[in-house]
Amino acid sequence: MLASFLEGLGSMYMAGAIAAASRVDPAHVYPPPVAARSALDALPSPPGRPLVGHLPDFARDTLGFVEAAAREHGDMVRFRLGRWEAVLLNHPYLVEEVLVRDPWNWIKHTFFWRHVGAIFGKGLLTNEGQPWLHQRRLVQPAFRHDRLEAYAATMVDYTLRRIERWEDGAEIDVRAEMTSLTFEIVAKVLFDADVAGDVAEIGAAFDTGIEEIGRRFRRPIRIPDRVPTPGNLRYRRSVARMDALIERIVAEHREGCAGPDDLLSDLMAARDEEGRPMPEEQLRDEVITLLLAGHETTALALTWTWWLLARHPGVDRRLADAVEAAVGSGAPGVADVPRLGYVEHVVKESMRLRPPAYSFGREAVEPCEVGGREIPAGTTVFVFPWLLHRDVRWFEKPLTFDPDRWEGELEESLPRAAYLPFGAGPRICVGRHFAMIEAVLIVATIAARWRIEWGPADPRPFPSITLRPTGGLTARLRSR
Ligand code: HEM
Repeated sequence: MLASFLEGLGSMYMAGAIAAASRVDPAHVYPPPVAARSALDALPSPPGRPLVGHLPDFARDTLGFVEAAAREHGDMVRFRLGRWEAVLLNHPYLVEEVLVRDPWNWIKHTFFWRHVGAIFGKGLLTNEGQPWLHQRRLVQPAFRHDRLEAYAATMVDYTLRRIERWEDGAEIDVRAEMTSLTFEIVAKVLFDADVAGDVAEIGAAFDTGIEEIGRRFRRPIRIPDRVPTPGNLRYRRSVARMDALIERIVAEHREGCAGPDDLLSDLMAARDEEGRPMPEEQLRDEVITLLLAGHETTALALTWTWWLLARHPGVDRRLADAVEAAVGSGAPGVADVPRLGYVEHVVKESMRLRPPAYSFGREAVEPCEVGGREIPAGTTVFVFPWLLHRDVRWFEKPLTFDPDRWEGELEESLPRAAYLPFGAGPRICVGRHFAMIEAVLIVATIAARWRIEWGPADPRPFPSITLRPTGGLTARLRSR
């Protein structure tokens, strides 16, 4: 029901988008001119340092910094990261104003995203304006309900194949297992590609790229990609490795090795108004965006879910019982998803406490108002689902892992942007239903057969581009 509501909302946005997306002018002012910045002076701000502002504190402990900022200064807090002016929005109504009510005055090309250009290029995640809208319309049909139903069998099949190799009492690295699984699934269902042999190398290349982006993000100055620093060289090598995989996937399609009924075939067959095919570079950007965005976040959601289940044995037992009641001893299918409500609540609750997309930003194209305050063009606003999801105004006992909170009317009664693991507005995650179906089916398939017993160390949330667990990732398998 929620899915169809969101779908409806999506089409509404798309209609508005046609007229409005053209307002985005990528050549807008950035950062805001000095005179305009004084408009932000009225906002409360933690004490900063000369020149670098709040960057060192923000970079050292991002989550701690925003938690303290919201606690001490309220729902709209100004801070400065080097020369970049930023405003933290910590109330769902403020977030809604930006993401939902006036989305076309805001672009994603924040100081953060401009560091990831070499990886994602102008794919759906990073593109703007009319070109974004054009691409979104091409990609969206691959996420329609009938297509998702067809993908579900592969999701379960790949999970069963992976857990067949598991042995009772063996140790596994949960994140590595979930990453390989979701990577193979997304490559198969969207691009009909078999990437089993590439998982380790691509995973390492992606991690190198992400680590380098993390370093750039924490540096007060920007060093262009072309400067041959050791970090840039590592970054370029990692992008080259990913590019080689994309080239192979596209070449295999061209040679007709893959079936015609997948997203890549659709993208290759697409023609613009003048009958021209999608440029090679755009095709590359879309494929890499969907491959990376389409597996990392889901793998993280699953990893955090297994850790939470291991730490809450009562929930874990209920989950296994609920799966057995819904599916019996066989493997689940898409038709079982409506009966796997408890599994869905567990996944939702896990993404509340550990949202893989723990933060995202937008940059103002034109001067505007948010919460009645003047915001100059070029200002970055930050939204932290990490904060909103643990706000006692919206969630009772917010730090408690309690899947039952999703049982009743909670979702309908929440302000629209109080829970937003997939974002909101027209740039909402295109793969959100894909991700939910996949997570529910994977958790149900595994939980019916295995209990994942976590080691004594708890993984710590590390805010990279996504919320990655660091340390304490080893777990022991116990057959049910
Ligand atoms: C639990 C899993 C996932 C989470 C938490 C997640 C989260 C998000 C969020 C928060 C955004 C919006 C970011 C913003 O507004 O700045 C987003 C966008 C996006 N996601 Fe996901 N995502 C997940 C799974 C997926 C999957 C499975 C796919 C594809 C197969 C995908 C593809 C994308 C793409 C292409 C965008 C950009 C959409 C646009 O701007 O039009 N995501 N995701």
